[in-house]
Amino acid sequence: MSTAGKVIKCKAAVAWEPNKPLVIEEVEVAPPQANEVRIKIVATAVCHTDLYHVFELEDGFPIVLGHEGAGIVESVGSGVTEFQPGDKVIPLCNPQCRECRFCKSPKTNQCEKGWLAHSSVVLASPDSRLTCKGKKVLQYVGTSTFSEYTVVNQIALAKIDPAAPLDKVCLLGCGVCTGFGAAVNTAKVEPGSTCAVFGLGAVGLAAVMGCSAAGAKRIIAVDINPEKFEKAKVFGATECVNPKDHDKPISKVLAEMTNGGVDFSLECVGNVEVMRTALESCVEGWGVSVIVGWTDVADFAARPVQLIAGRTWKGSLLGGFKCKDGIPEMVKAYLDKKVKLDEFITHNMTLDQINDAFELMKRGECIRTVLSVSPQ
Ligand SMILES: NC(=O)c1ccc[n+]([C@@H]2O[C@H](COP(=O)([O-])OP(=O)(O)OC[C@H]3O[C@@H](n4cnc5c(N)ncnc54)[C@H](O)[C@@H]3O)[C@@H](O)[C@H]2O)c1
Ligand SMILES: [Zn+2]
Ligand SMILES: [Zn+2]
Repeated sequence: MSTAGKVIKCKAAVAWEPNKPLVIEEVEVAPPQANEVRIKIVATAVCHTDLYHVFELEDGFPIVLGHEGAGIVESVGSGVTEFQPGDKVIPLCNPQCRECRFCKSPKTNQCEKGWLAHSSVVLASPDSRLTCKGKKVLQYVGTSTFSEYTVVNQIALAKIDPAAPLDKVCLLGCGVCTGFGAAVNTAKVEPGSTCAVFGLGAVGLAAVMGCSAAGAKRIIAVDINPEKFEKAKVFGATECVNPKDHDKPISKVLAEMTNGGVDFSLECVGNVEVMRTALESCVEGWGVSVIVGWTDVADFAARPVQLIAGRTWKGSLLGGFKCKDGIPEMVKAYLDKKVKLDEFITHNMTLDQINDAFELMKRGECIRTVLSVSPQ
């Protein structure tokens, strides 16, 4: 029986308040309005930014989190011609309308119609098609993949190769594209260069993979959890450094290892102290440091002379990818065996086990947990 045009009642993990476990609830998902698409989410992974919302923010509840997902189009609203029921898709937390001045510029992947333009603190789109117990529930970064069904604007959806396994390519919705693109698109890592990547979660490991794909000669992987080093080598790290093994500041350790500092550094932790360290680990003259880790609750500091000496400090959202174009290309790169995805997945669970997946990430015991959400 077709569900098109009807409200769908289904399961979702709702975050009712900060610092509390998510609750599996029955939610109502409204039919897509003009320019919107309703999707059955097949698989979703958990990204650290989902945890950030629950454990670091006070506002933005109740909300259905999740933004690293993949699914199948169930129905489309009026005005939608690009998608049809049955298409395999990845929701985009960084949309691409193709019409605004940002989308038309090759210099940025921001979109004026994205949720970031409306609210960067709460990380939720102002409009939601989800309700629970009579209450409107926010949609995290306009996506909400911790739900069996969700509705997104067509500017925030990418159609992907029908051959793509959704329980793997869901990782391209955020973390892997973020890290890989931060190295390739934002830092523009050069062949033969020396790089340092701080933080070896999925984002940092993808940055290591990006440095390697760009032809870096030395890739120094830095983490305070040495359990991550083995995986870092799988993705191309040539050396691993644990700041806890050294009495000196890690920027000094890296300077000694590299004759004055690395050419490129990437901060994939979300800690303002590490951001400063990553900048100071770059060589003067031409070093480039990219901030990838997310925080909006703390300020950073650095000595201006670090930049005057010729270093460049940049930030990267979703790896600089214009996502409607870039994510399907990354799916193709995975199918062509040019980028790895399977190696990021350390755990497979179901949506019901979402709080266990959060705990694993909090304790640093996983890289990515993929949750199966609906049967295909
Ligand atoms: N810019 C973006 O578009 C974007 C997109 C996705 C995620 N993020 C952010 O990227 C960051 C990483 O995400 P993730 O999912 O890989 O997280 P994760 O929790 O899996 O990984 C973080 C890693 O950092 C390590 N770490 C913690 N403190 C450290 C320190 N002082 N020095 C070195 N390493 C340290 C941890 O041991 C862990 O391995 C988060 O801040 C997340 O919010 C940003
Ligand atoms: Zn746009
Ligand atoms: Zn993310």
